[in-house]
This record gives sequence, C-alpha cells and structure tokens, in this order.
Amino acid sequence: MALRTIRLPEGFTLHELEAVDSTNEEAKRLADKGAQSGALVIARTQTSGRGRRGRAWSSPVGNLYSSLLLRPTCSLAEAARLTFLIAVAMAEAVETVTGGMVRPDCKWPNDLMVNDRKICGILLESASNQGAATDYLVIGAGVNVAFFPDDAERPATSLAASGSPVSVTDLVTTYVARVAHWLPIWEQDGFAPIREAWLARGYGIGKPVVARLTERELQGTFVGLDEGGELILREDSGFEHRIGAGEVFFAA
Ligand code: BTN
Repeated sequence: MALRTIRLPEGFTLHELEAVDSTNEEAKRLADKGAQSGALVIARTQTSGRGRRGRAWSSPVGNLYSSLLLRPTCSLAEAARLTFLIAVAMAEAVETVTGGMVRPDCKWPNDLMVNDRKICGILLESASNQGAATDYLVIGAGVNVAFFPDDAERPATSLAASGSPVSVTDLVTTYVARVAHWLPIWEQDGFAPIREAWLARGYGIGKPVVARLTERELQGTFVGLDEGGELILREDSGFEHRIGAGEVFFAA
C-alpha cells in the first residue's frame, strides 16, 4: 500500500517507494542519472537504512524515511550547513503536525530530541566536482513516528510514544513545505537566519558537554554555534574550541 497522496510545493519532485535499500542511496542514484535539485525520495521501509558513523538505522514500516537531493551552487563547506536548515524544517514540521504537543530541540550537529531522547536523525552525503564546488547533496532524515529502537546506543523515542501519533504523509508534506520556506531565505540571506532558528531550539546550550573528537576528548560548556555552524565549547579556563565534526554528549 502506498503512502496517501503527498502534495509537494513547486520545485520538488516525489519519488515514492514501498521499500528500498536506503533512501539516501536511491537519491544518489537519481543524482547520478541527472535528477534535478528538489527530488525527494521517501520509502515505507528501508532494508539497509544507514545512520552516521556507519551505524544501521532501524527502518520498520510506520516511520518516516526521506532523502532530499539538492544542488546548491556553493562550496561543500557552505552547503553542509544545510543540515541545520533540514533540522529546523523537520522540527517545525513535527511541532505543526502534533498541534504544538511535541516541540523538538535541535541537537548539534544534526539530531532532533524530545524529552532528552532522539526522535530524528539526519545524514548528509555529498558529491563535489571541480575542487570544492558542490555537485549535489543528499540529506536524509529519519523520524521515529510510530516506533523507536530500544537497542540504540543513546535513548530514543517516537512521536507515538510521546503521545502524538501522526500521519507520515502529513509529516512529509509539512516538512517539505518548511524546507520550501527556508531555502529561499538561505539563498538570499545565507546561514545567519537559520542559525538563529536553530539556536532558538538548541539542545544543551549553557550546559556541560563532552565532545569526542577523532583523537581526543574535550570537556566544557556548550556556549553556542559560531557563524559557520561549528559548536563552541568553552573550557573552565575560558579557552574556547570550535568543533566542526565529532560526537557530543550532554549530562542527562
Ligand atoms: C543518524 O542519526 O545517525 C542519521 C540517521 C539518518 C537516517 C535517515 S532515514 C532516511 C535516510 N536513509 C538512510 O539510510 N539514512 C537516512
């Protein structure tokens, strides 16, 4: 059974599947075949759903699996900030479809949290051409609508478990509408307004944080995001680190 009819704003094209290995993989295949910016792949289930750092992403029927293909005309470093736009758009969509009952927080770099539990993960993959220019980005977003994994390394939840069972169709439709709202703002005004919207939902700001980097661990306070989307961690000494990639942990 296909998802109920999904209407997308102008500029977005729907690729709706029953099952797929990973919507990110399908979006990359479409990109390699020349699909335009705005292609959105959704599937009812994934057989090889992927998370960050090579983790598997549990993909039972009932949750949302989506991947958006974008072809921004900027460097990959700038384009990578679009994950914050996606996080804000999805957080707003969740809040809207739950009638304000669930208000997700944005956790750096790209998770959504509800009651200190993960409800959405975002996976950005990119391809470049001619040096640093972006050929395409695929931004996958998975939302625990009906189910959540209980074997997760970190505590998770679902919208249903949070008391707000919603329709995946309504969530996708609202999500893409919010992406369509934010993309022109990003194109015109850059990252600043998105950073502001993200910070308004920022998870753990002002709290102690541990950042696990490739070769070391840093401890301090999460004081905010810089203009490029890097996490600012202030050590007790007052020294500030800017962190572009890594995993962060907040005390519960
Ligand atoms: C993470 O938090 O580790 C990122 C999870 C990303 C999951 C989504 S589900 C849709 C898309 N397809 C995938 O295989 N992964 C992303």
